[in-house]
Amino acid sequence: MTPSFWKGKRVLVTGHTGFKGGWLTLWLQNVGAEVTGFSINIPSEPSFYKVARVHQDVNSLRGDIRDFDCLKNVIEKHRPEIVIHMAALPLVRHSYKYPLDTLSTNILGSIHVLEAIRQSGGVRVVINVTSDKCYENREWVWGYRETDPMGGHDPYSSSKGCSELITAAYRQSFFRSSVNTEPTVALSSVRAGNVIGGGDWSQDRLIPDMVRSFVNKRPIVIRSPEAIRPWQHVLDPLNGYMILAEKLWEQGESFADSWNFGPNENDSCSVAKIADQVIVEWGEEVTWEKDTQSSAHEATQLKLDCSKAKNSLGWVPSWIFEKTIRKTVEWYKAHLKGHEMRSFSLQQISEYQIDAKN
Ligand SMILES: NC(=O)c1ccc[n+]([C@@H]2O[C@H](COP(=O)([O-])OP(=O)(O)OC[C@H]3O[C@@H](n4cnc5c(N)ncnc54)[C@H](O)[C@@H]3O)[C@@H](O)[C@H]2O)c1
Repeated sequence: MTPSFWKGKRVLVTGHTGFKGGWLTLWLQNVGAEVTGFSINIPSEPSFYKVARVHQDVNSLRGDIRDFDCLKNVIEKHRPEIVIHMAALPLVRHSYKYPLDTLSTNILGSIHVLEAIRQSGGVRVVINVTSDKCYENREWVWGYRETDPMGGHDPYSSSKGCSELITAAYRQSFFRSSVNTEPTVALSSVRAGNVIGGGDWSQDRLIPDMVRSFVNKRPIVIRSPEAIRPWQHVLDPLNGYMILAEKLWEQGESFADSWNFGPNENDSCSVAKIADQVIVEWGEEVTWEKDTQSSAHEATQLKLDCSKAKNSLGWVPSWIFEKTIRKTVEWYKAHLKGHEMRSFSLQQISEYQIDAKN
């Protein structure tokens, strides 16, 4: 990303109190953007948002994306030029337990964001953050491409497939110069894989579950050790989203499309491989065991083909597998040792930026 581009830009981040939203907001603050955040709550305790003091420099608003009027008021009052929509209920297992909440938040919430932007005017760039799970999963060994069909077995995956279809409908129906005489909105969706990094304390996610086990000296229990996922450091897709926003700002419609952001082919690996590497980096004599209680369906194979982002945006993943794990473990260890985590996180961002530039 180009730091100077963001200086003074008015950016609305929905889901700014979450794991990805927190890192993005901190990064945007650091490059001089004027960030307004809109979230329903802080989704975990502890949280990256609080620990890295993301609230320090953001206009933080509380609200529900399922409340259309509230969202529209926020857009009309704060007049963002760029919207990055991340607010969601993002967990597969939670979605089996609370399908209505997940579907209404992720589908109706996305519709509200797009409709509020359409009605309000003034927004120039929109990025809707969906997921690699939006694809109809065929248990292929190769990566999904942006042109593959949408799907979703579980409520969460299906909600992200729906959010993609809605994004495409808004783009075709309302946000194209051929259907619009007003200056138009450049709208993209982004599909990233499983992200890891410091400061995630969600339930039912591999790294947070492992960190809790290390801290509480409890055995590590892992749900689907054989499952293959496109793991990447959280800063990698965020860098991709920002590069995409810059292109949408500068070149508009030609970049208004869907984009995959995932690791290089070799870094899509099994849950077991990630767990083993985390244990090596953590440096403790522990082992993990397979969870035999878990029965809910989850895809076994999931990879992304990111050729389009690499070729058209010039984006590449900058932190490979080992570095991703090392940086993640360093973050949690620094937190446990009582370091000041805002500057520690900013230091990781600046290190990432140097690596990305090189
Ligand atoms: N973390 C991952 O591995 C991953 C992978 C692929 C895609 N994603 C997507 O990235 C986005 C962010 O994920 P995350 O891991 O940071 O999630 P998170 O749970 O840490 O944060 C979710 C955010 O959404 C907000 N939110 C939830 N419901 C809301 C509502 N009704 N109204 C307003 N705000 C609401 C929460 O307050 C929080 O700020 C999500 O859209 C998720 O689907 C995440």
